[in-house]
Amino acid sequence: MNQHLSNREIGPRVLAIVAEHQGLEGPLLPILHGVQSVFGHIPDEAVPVIAGALNLSRAEVHGVVTFYHDYRHHPAGRHVLKLCRAEACQSMGGDRLADQAKAALGIDFHGTTPDGAVTLEPVFCLGLCSTAPAAMLDGAVHGRLDAQALETLLEEARR
Ligand code: FES
Repeated sequence: MNQHLSNREIGPRVLAIVAEHQGLEGPLLPILHGVQSVFGHIPDEAVPVIAGALNLSRAEVHGVVTFYHDYRHHPAGRHVLKLCRAEACQSMGGDRLADQAKAALGIDFHGTTPDGAVTLEPVFCLGLCSTAPAAMLDGAVHGRLDAQALETLLEEARR
């Protein structure tokens, strides 16, 4: 889910997510997952709310958010293209495909095209090593990618 809520609505929603997970041991990661699934990213306004509720500093919460690449600081584009950067895919030309995607979109990994169409992300093994190199577009996996197949995916993602 990716909801666009006003700043005023963020606090109460985050507090509700905190309340759901506060009883868990190590509640921070599940809370961050919950926040991201509601907002599509971790809004800046959520950090002090979570920090206050868990008795952590803002820097500690921010540190965790930035450590895990799965958490986004900004809303994702309408489409998310993940390219596998793990070993099997690397050995099958993953670097070239990554360069091709970055050049075509004009962004680096973790970036979103200025028109908000595509977010490009690295992923470390999609479990499709036997059909490397692999990618995932909006949750659908694609194996045996070559330059042409990637171009087709990029066209689809830019729409
Ligand atoms: S290494 Fe790319 S899918 Fe496993």
